[in-house]
Amino acid sequence: MKNKLKHLAIIMDGNGRWAKSRGLQRVKGHEKGAEVVRDITTFCANSDEIKTLTLYAFSTENWKRPKLEVDFLMKLLDRYLKNELEVYQKEGVKFDTIGNLEPFSKKLKDTIAKTKDATKNNSKLTQILALNYGAQDELLRAVNKACKNGNIITKKDLERYLDTPYSDIDLLIRTSGEKRLSNYLLWQIAYAELEFTDTLWPDFTPVELNKIIENFKKRERKFGGI
Ligand code: IPE
Ligand code: IPE
Ligand code: MG
Repeated sequence: MKNKLKHLAIIMDGNGRWAKSRGLQRVKGHEKGAEVVRDITTFCANSDEIKTLTLYAFSTENWKRPKLEVDFLMKLLDRYLKNELEVYQKEGVKFDTIGNLEPFSKKLKDTIAKTKDATKNNSKLTQILALNYGAQDELLRAVNKACKNGNIITKKDLERYLDTPYSDIDLLIRTSGEKRLSNYLLWQIAYAELEFTDTLWPDFTPVELNKIIENFKKRERKFGGI
């Protein structure tokens, strides 16, 4: 039987290198990367199987970047969400986030909240953007909430307090040739299949995604069994 792909997660990496290789500023890579987010989201919304797409957009470590780049990313996100509303509605995409939104500007927090609210009844696909997300931060916040009542913490307790109430990840893809997880979804990928492609995120296409999915479907997932 072929594997079912319900929850796909992607580490969208390589925007900066894509721009540099064209003699452009790094931010141009982020702009092109945002267009690819739209194409990949639309592809996933039109797949009968994929119900959740979790995209790494900004990590808890990305604050280390120059202020100019961080500011640009925040503005790009605000602009992206406003422009994208039409696409979310047309394609039936519910928008959600994981990560700690606290440090973001009021304007960006408002845009995020409005987009969540406007798309909450869409049901073809849930697109989750990981924003100021780090798996260690998520786990620490969850553990601190879960242990407040002083009892032993069960798996169920912990999962209730994680940022994502969605199902475990079936397939994790990282673009740009880097083979590391960079603090992404450490709990939820416990049994995910992993795929690394050298393609830089701005060059990633639904055609390549489709090939990766076909390959994933043929893999044997054993979950510790035989
Ligand atoms: C991924 O691309 C996007 C974000 C982390 C926001 P990068 O900006 O990390 O691109 P490279 O890795 O420098 O090429
Ligand atoms: C991971 O990419 C974070 C996102 C894609 C948002 P990075 O480019 O920040 O990761 P490292 O620094 O290469 O590990
Ligand atoms: Mg990178």
